[in-house]
Amino acid sequence: MTAPILLTGASGALGRQLTRILGEAGYTLRLTDIAPFPDALPPRAVFTQADLIDAPAITALADGCSTILHFGGISTEHPFDVVLGPNIVGLHNIYEAARKAKARVVFASSNHAIGFHPRSNKLDADCALRPDSFYGLSKAYGELMGGMYWEKHGVESVSVRIGSSFPEPADVRMLSTWLSYADLGRLMVCCIVAPKTGCCIVWGNSANAATYWGDDARADLGWVPQDTADIFAGKVAGKVTDDPVVERHQGGGYCAMDYTRAR
Ligand SMILES: NC(=O)c1ccc[n+]([C@@H]2O[C@H](COP(=O)([O-])OP(=O)(O)OC[C@H]3O[C@@H](n4cnc5c(N)ncnc54)[C@H](O)[C@@H]3O)[C@@H](O)[C@H]2O)c1
Repeated sequence: MTAPILLTGASGALGRQLTRILGEAGYTLRLTDIAPFPDALPPRAVFTQADLIDAPAITALADGCSTILHFGGISTEHPFDVVLGPNIVGLHNIYEAARKAKARVVFASSNHAIGFHPRSNKLDADCALRPDSFYGLSKAYGELMGGMYWEKHGVESVSVRIGSSFPEPADVRMLSTWLSYADLGRLMVCCIVAPKTGCCIVWGNSANAATYWGDDARADLGWVPQDTADIFAGKVAGKVTDDPVVERHQGGGYCAMDYTRAR
């Protein structure tokens, strides 16, 4: 197996899934989060409680790792000063640690980095960033940081614009954006084992017929999603809002938060 994999945000919803999936696949995992890890640790996994803004701790955790799966931080919309530490300062600590360790970064970006694109536009990964929130802005900044560290230092990164990664789609929008946990796990393995990634972007959604998204780097990574939201269409039928701002944009409800323009 490869060198250890560092997983930030290990105690979160996606971190716990990835710990299980990658643990079962036999990876040696260094897990970290500001919150305690709530599950039994898989074999070859070590958990260290740390804050992303603690640069020496993050540097030490990354030392000797081949890949950093960066899933830690503020994962929903919050005031800017709450987002700033974990998602901007913490992200810089991750990229600096990756540079020192010569590790690859897989960054859990978000559809909210491009959320103000209308749903009627099918987007390729090189589309303009149109963040819909302070949270989405931090993800856009993270993608740009990945670009800068690649150009300047040769640090490889894959930014995964995750749509909606939950057990099942919860509304009509998620028939477009849903990413199954199993597809996410398979994508992470592709990101770990790819001989080269350069600096690239992948849309994080399953094989959904109603997708908003087109070209990205998935073929270069060898990732083919195997699940689909389509089978849940009947279950979520009619689950829409009466807010035109929500329904018009890819970012959905995040676009409408604190929205002060005419609807
Ligand atoms: N779940 C989704 O559908 C989805 C969609 C788009 C993007 N993402 C991104 O994927 C990642 C994981 O999402 P999630 O749903 O598991 O979120 P989550 O909130 O469950 O997990 C995030 C983890 O980060 C940890 N964390 C927060 N601040 C920290 C700090 N200062 N230092 C160290 N750890 C800190 C939290 O304790 C938490 O365990 C996030 O970056 C999120 O933005 C998720």
